[in-house]
Amino acid sequence: MKGFPEDFLWGGAVAANQVEGAYLEDGKGLTTVDLLPQGERRFEIMLGDLKGFTPDPDTFYPSHEGIDFYHTYKEDIALFAEMGFKALRLSIAWTRIFPTGEESEPNEAGLAFYDSVFDELRKYNIEPVVTMAHFDVPVALVEKYGGWRDRKLVELFETYAKTILTRYKDKVRYWMTFNEINMLLHLPYIGAGLVFKEGENKKKIQYQAAHHQLVASALAVKACHEIIPNAMCGCMLAAGATYPYTPDPEDVWDAVQKDRDTFFFIDVQARGAYPGYAKRMLREQGLFPDMEPGDEDILEAHTVDYLGFSYYSSRATSTDPEVNAQAAQGNVFGSVPNPYLKSSEWGWAIDPKGLRITANQLYERYQKPLFIVENGLGAVDQPTDDFVVEDDYRIAYLQAHVKEMKEAILDGVELLGYTSWGPIDLVSASTGEMKKRYGYIYVDRNNDGSGSLKRAKKKSFAWYKQVIETNGEDLSEGGQSI
Ligand code: BG6
Repeated sequence: MKGFPEDFLWGGAVAANQVEGAYLEDGKGLTTVDLLPQGERRFEIMLGDLKGFTPDPDTFYPSHEGIDFYHTYKEDIALFAEMGFKALRLSIAWTRIFPTGEESEPNEAGLAFYDSVFDELRKYNIEPVVTMAHFDVPVALVEKYGGWRDRKLVELFETYAKTILTRYKDKVRYWMTFNEINMLLHLPYIGAGLVFKEGENKKKIQYQAAHHQLVASALAVKACHEIIPNAMCGCMLAAGATYPYTPDPEDVWDAVQKDRDTFFFIDVQARGAYPGYAKRMLREQGLFPDMEPGDEDILEAHTVDYLGFSYYSSRATSTDPEVNAQAAQGNVFGSVPNPYLKSSEWGWAIDPKGLRITANQLYERYQKPLFIVENGLGAVDQPTDDFVVEDDYRIAYLQAHVKEMKEAILDGVELLGYTSWGPIDLVSASTGEMKKRYGYIYVDRNNDGSGSLKRAKKKSFAWYKQVIETNGEDLSEGGQSI
């Protein structure tokens, strides 16, 4: 292998609730993210502290309009095609198909919308890579069942998965079940629609919800294989290797344990069973989830075909309380600052080499094809009055990561593709801001919802086009090689 394979899937990734808007249009129901405002309160809710199930008329909810992709998908996809995209990762909003999650018949208008999106992609030979649930639980199911804590969601999700697999069987070959499934341990509301009452054992509920999602994921893989035999169905994790802060064996062991919070999910989804270390931890801490007879067989029989993962940064961990005290607030993985790395404006460590390390680690552990389905730099852009954005910082970040990705391929890692996050500016999942931009395409929309929604190509647009055109061979920018 000399570099990127000929059929490498270059492209970008978005999620329904971060781009579509039209939050109640054509029969769509409310989804969990539709109750997330910007600011401090957003984070508290994401941790499971939700007070009511209807939007407050005086509060601004960024997902309600998103970047209006629901109405602009044709022009946005044309821009992706101009960059030469081979793939677009996107998610289907569960609540467009089943507005409350429990209807006996799907919502035809919702199904028709994604038909049009997939047709538009096919027009340009862009492969859709579809996530079934990207931080997306119908609010009605949160209110009635408490989200994924209830077994009922397994059955409802299976119906939803079968519905979309059947409908799009001739249009979609790459599927993924849950976005960043491990996120439910860190942000339980967006990961699994969990809202906690006072005094509840949160960890126990989280692992119960995790079990339900794992079974639901395996059933979706089963359905995918039955309905679309030539499709690939994958899982998706928020990845990033954990480094020990020092060579102290206590720190090293702590890093092993932290990585296992992530591996736990993929060990089940890719290997088909709860690993020994997880069984021990769950038993010793009184967290073992209730299982139904047959669950273990389902998990064993229906493992994923590939591993999708997001990579933004590596993590660092320490057992020293003084070092731990420096862990940035709002950092969901509790990572301590790594003195060897610079950080983004949002405090995320920038570590291209970590991508190579993570990819190697995952491939050695699972021996299944990998797909980097998210990576990118969230940064503040300074557009001129006519929306020119010179985003050299973004190009530098992506260059360095693509270079390490190539190294991983040369190391022997089997990689299906690379869909960088937010090829068009979109609503930030963690903060709800528009200011945190990832795109090659600028969207004129501000944090408060003002702006014309006009699209404009940034400098990175031409750079990524050239990367795709040369199949990752020419990463230079303005004649300057790295
Ligand atoms: C991942 C999510 O966690 O990171 C995306 O799958 C998210 O939904 C992305 O947008 C970047 O995070 P943020 O908070 O900068 O939007």
